[in-house]
Parts: sequence; structure tokens; C-alpha cells
Amino acid sequence: MNIIESFKLDGRVALVTGAGKGIGEGIALGLAEAGADVALVARTRTDLERVAERIREGGRRALVVPGDVADVAAFPSLVRQVEEGLGPIDVLVNCAGIQRRMTVLEATVEGWEQVINTNLRSVYFLCQAVGKGMVARGRGGKVVNIASMTSYRGFHTVSPYGISKAGVANFTKVLALEWAPHNIQVNAIAPGWIATPMTAQMGADRIRWVNQHVPQGKFGTPRDVAGLAVFLASPAADYLTGQTIPVDGGFLAGNPWPPIPAQP
Ligand SMILES: NC(=O)c1ccc[n+]([C@@H]2O[C@H](COP(=O)([O-])OP(=O)(O)OC[C@H]3O[C@@H](n4cnc5c(N)ncnc54)[C@H](OP(=O)(O)O)[C@@H]3O)[C@@H](O)[C@H]2O)c1
Repeated sequence: MNIIESFKLDGRVALVTGAGKGIGEGIALGLAEAGADVALVARTRTDLERVAERIREGGRRALVVPGDVADVAAFPSLVRQVEEGLGPIDVLVNCAGIQRRMTVLEATVEGWEQVINTNLRSVYFLCQAVGKGMVARGRGGKVVNIASMTSYRGFHTVSPYGISKAGVANFTKVLALEWAPHNIQVNAIAPGWIATPMTAQMGADRIRWVNQHVPQGKFGTPRDVAGLAVFLASPAADYLTGQTIPVDGGFLAGNPWPPIPAQP
């Protein structure tokens, strides 16, 4: 296959969770630009309709499937709905996620479960629900999970979040092993600080800290993450599996030198 052709997704069906905003929206649009038809999942229908409209304007099919990824019992019917609407799922992107700040002493079981169920349990059981068909069809597939820098490092006051994302990175490895014989590649992306509605809640001090400690001196964009997602979903990544790849402006590479001057 021509190398440029191997990055294309024509004729593929992708399911993207968290597709209404931020990184998930960027990935859904990127996959569609690369040729995929895309099913969009999040809780807010109006967000999904807006993203779907952009995908349709670009000439691809889009299916809006409002739902809560914490509701794992609904996954079999969610998968059925997508496959009836667009066809068998070739690419699953697990992007839906939330962050809640709490010290360990403040944490409640309810807060813990909200984060773990949204960010980790959902990934596990949606992979299972989509994987049943992918494995049975025997024509391979791709899973792209969204992890985080907290998959690698401890960050103050986000322990349930960090545990969920470390879990996503570990699960990505295990699933890659289990599904390698079925030609299904399973990888994860660890975004650094990306400008989305989630990070829009950050205070000025924290934003300044990020700009001073990320070697590239700025936040990334959803588009910066979408390029890697398209690659991981494409035949160009057919021999790549079990990895969690940072897209972080160099943050995990080390400390910038000379220090980045404070931004106004
Ligand atoms: N932004 C960053 O700097 C950054 C860095 C590392 C990792 N990440 C990860 O990247 C992913 C996307 O983050 P983001 O910054 O794009 O977040 P965002 O701007 O808050 O968007 C999150 C998306 O997920 C959906 N979502 C949240 N809870 C859901 C649920 N229970 N069921 C279904 N959909 C749900 C939201 O829609 P509804 O609220 O309408 O459901 C929204 O569409 C998350 O997993 C996050 O942890 C982000």
C-alpha cells in the first residue's frame, strides 16, 4: 500500500466517546477528515448534533448516540445502535472522561466512583462490548484509549483521576496482548495540557505554571491530539500495539532549560 494511502480511513466506522467537546470532538473530526464514518457519544445531544453537522458537511456519515458511559449496562444496545446505523465498528476511541480535584483526606466513595466509573470502568466494558463483534468478525480493528500524563506521574489532588488513567494505560497493555491474535491493535494517547472546556476551568496560577514547565511553552490543541489518533486508527499503525504515547509539548521529556519566562 502507498504510504499516504496507509494513513487513510475510507470505509471505516469509528465510535468516539466524549465526542461532544474538546479532545473527543477534535478526534471525531480528524477521523472523519481521514475518511471514517463516525458515531458520536456523550451526554449532551446538542453538542453531538453540532459535531455531526460538521462531519456531514465534510461528506462523511455521522450518527448521534447520546449516552452516559458510566451506564455500562447500556453498552450492548449502544453498540447495536451504532452497528445498525453505520455498520460494524472498526475503530473505538474511548475519550469520555472527567476530572475532580480532591485530596485523599477529602475523598468520598461517591467522588471516587464517579471518576473511576466514568474514566476506567467505561473503557474496560466498552472495549468488551465492541470487541465481541470485532473478534467474531475476524477482520481486525483498532482501539485508541485516552490516558493522561497522570498515567505516568503523580499529580497533587487528582488521585482518583490519576488512578483511573494509570488503569487505562495498564489495561491498554493487557488488551493489546489478548487481542493481538485477532489483529486488533490497542493503544493509548497521553495528552499533556490541552486547551478544552476541561482545562478552561484552571486558574491563572496553574495556567502560568503549565506555560513555564512545558518545554514548548504552551497548551496543545485537540487538533494536536487528533493527528496521533488518526495514525493509531489507520493501517499505518498495524504493527504498533500496547503503547501509551504522550502528546505533551515535551513535558515528560524533562525540565525545560533555559527556564521559560513567565507569560503575562
Ligand atoms: N484537556 C486536557 O488537558 C487533558 C489532558 C489529559 C487527558 N485528558 C483526557 O482527555 C479526555 C477528554 O478531555 P477534554 O479535556 O476534552 O474534556 P472536556 O472538554 O470536558 O470534554 C469531555 C467530553 O466527554 C464527555 N463526557 C464526560 N462525561 C461523560 C459521561 N459520563 N458519559 C458520556 N460522555 C461524557 C463530555 O460530554 P457530556 O458532559 O455532554 O457528557 C464531553 O463531550 C478525558 O478522558 C480527559 O481525562 C484531557
